[in-house]
Order: sequence, then structure tokens, then C-alpha cells
Amino acid sequence: MGLFFTLIALVFFLGSSLGDLSVGFYSRTCPNAETIVASVVRDAVAAEQRMAAILLRLHFHDCFVQGCDGSILIDDPNAEKHAFGHQGVQGYAEIEKAKAQLEAICPGVVSCADIVAMAARDSVALSNGPVYQVPTGRRDGRLSNVSFADDMPDVSESVQQLKAKFLQKGLSAKDLVLLNAAHTIGTTACFFMTHRLYNFPNFGTDPTINTAFLPELKANCPQNGDVDVRLGMDHGSERTFDDMILRNIKNGFAVLESDSQLYTDPETKSVIDSYLGILNFLLGPSFAKDFADSMVKMGKIGVKTGPQGEIRRVCNAIN
Ligand code: HEM
Repeated sequence: MGLFFTLIALVFFLGSSLGDLSVGFYSRTCPNAETIVASVVRDAVAAEQRMAAILLRLHFHDCFVQGCDGSILIDDPNAEKHAFGHQGVQGYAEIEKAKAQLEAICPGVVSCADIVAMAARDSVALSNGPVYQVPTGRRDGRLSNVSFADDMPDVSESVQQLKAKFLQKGLSAKDLVLLNAAHTIGTTACFFMTHRLYNFPNFGTDPTINTAFLPELKANCPQNGDVDVRLGMDHGSERTFDDMILRNIKNGFAVLESDSQLYTDPETKSVIDSYLGILNFLLGPSFAKDFADSMVKMGKIGVKTGPQGEIRRVCNAIN
């Protein structure tokens, strides 16, 4: 009997110290952690609507390099955040603000990586997207280097390359479609459109763009124009989380080249189509639920738990 209880205790100890992420990880150690992050995100989005998309994107860029460990947040001349693959990523001040409030009430408890994951979740909910629970317990990484982000997925890569990069992170073709559907909110700089509109191999212009859409895209991002001008990525619905992005991709109204690629491959095309059937609302899979599941999966990439990593005092510096 004694041995039995020792074994149970050991399993419990290993589970909590080395183990997986869990929903409500801070419920005893910092019960207000989730509320505080939610209120910082709510205020930030109220002040600047773009912030929801910015914080959602930040989580993706954090997870794809060294795992979801807050490595993108580090400030240093040679830090990861300066990588080309992280071009335009923002939201650092909002994460730091949440961290400062959390340190004031429960110092050394809540990781920056978890704040990023929670902020992404809250941003989705604030954009009318699915409300989902995010498992926490990530610890912060202690390494950040510009070269670590060399392999970020790029807008001009083929769907085969994108599938391979997601697979390397344990994400399927279905996850690739669902996670890219995060482009249902937010904007892109014209910087990312030049290749697609003016330098596309053989045609000059990406032939997947619907001819009814091309003049509008070119007018928004003229050749040799200001590359910092921004345009919504989900044509007609850039502020609301919905399945319009999938319809746009299907109809040649995708703004990003990498999104349009998703309808050129049989596997990813069938994932898109699976959410767009006429009776889908009754019989089909739920885009909102599956998106949330893929977000939770992405949030587990290469996480550090238990004795690994650290809980940073501030998010932009290693302790
Ligand atoms: C194949 C993978 C992906 C590529 C190539 C890609 C590329 C891009 C590009 C080029 C932009 C515009 C950036 C700017 O101009 O500031 C962007 C924005 C964005 N991305 Fe992605 N992305 C990918 C996957 C994801 C994933 C997995 C998520 C989240 C789950 C995501 C969320 C966002 C959001 C929300 C924005 C809007 C940011 C804003 O409005 O400032 N992306 N993405």
C-alpha cells in the first residue's frame, strides 16, 4: 500500500514538475493571471483595433522559433526579433505591460511565453472568434539569436515548402490551413505584395489572383509605391474573425501569396472545401472549433516546462 501511494505521489510530482501544459496552471499560484492579461489586451485593442491581429501574429512568430518560449521578446542588437522573417512583428509593449502588472501581484510566477499565448487567445475572442482555453505552464527560453529565425515560413514559398515547415513543427496540412486562416483579421504591408504583383516568375503577376481583384490590389500597392501602406488580408472582412478568409482564398481573393497557394494543392484545397459546403453549418466540421484546436496545438510547439528555462522578471531580457 505504502509503495502504491509513493508511486502515485511520484507520478503526481513528475506530472507537475516536468509535465505537460495544463489549463488553469496558475489557478493557485497567481489566480488573477488570466484576468490581468485579458484586461491588458482589452484596453490595448480598445485603444488600437489593430492590436488584436498584432498579438495573434506574435504568438505564431514566438512558437515557430525555438518553441513557444518568449524568445522573440528579447531585446539585444543580435536578438531574434531583428530577423528578416519577423519583419513587422509588434506587440512587445503590451506583453511587457501585462508582465509588469503580474510581477506586481505574483512575482516570478507567470512566464512571458504564457502571456503571449493568453494574449493571442484573448485577441481572437475580442475579434468575434472562438473562445477557447489555453493550457499554460510554459517557461521562458534563455536564448535568442537573429539566426534562429532563418527558417520562418515566407509569403513566397510554395505550398510544399509551407507544408514541410509546418510538419517540422508537428503541424499537419490541416493545421497549416486553419492557422493561416488567422489572416481573417489584420493587415499586410505592400512590402509583401511586390513579388506577387510585379515580380512573379513567368507571368509578372501571380495568376491565382482573380482578374476582378487584381486592379484593386495594384491600386492599393502600386509598383514602386510606398511599401509601408497596409491593406486588409481578408478582403471585405479584415476586422472580424470569420470563415470569409477561406472563401476569399477559394475565389482568388486572397491577399497574401502564401494564402492563395493553399488552394493549389489537393490536400490543403480539400481542407478549405471541407468548411465551405452548403450544409456545413449543420453537418460539416466547425471552422471555429478546429481553428481553436490548431491554436492550442501550435501553442505546444517545443515548450519548456518543469526545470527547463526560467520565469523572466521582465519579458525583454533574460534574468
Ligand atoms: C505560412 C505561414 C505564414 C506566412 C507566410 C505569413 C505571412 C504573413 C505576412 C507577410 C503578414 C503581413 C505582415 C505585415 O505586413 O506586418 C502576416 C500578418 C499576419 N499574420 Fe501571418 N503568416 C503565416 C502564418 C500565420 C499564422 C500561423 C498566424 C497565427 C496563427 C498568423 C497571423 C497573422 C496575423 C494575425 C497577421 C496580421 C498582423 C497585423 O495586422 O499587423 N500568420 N502574415
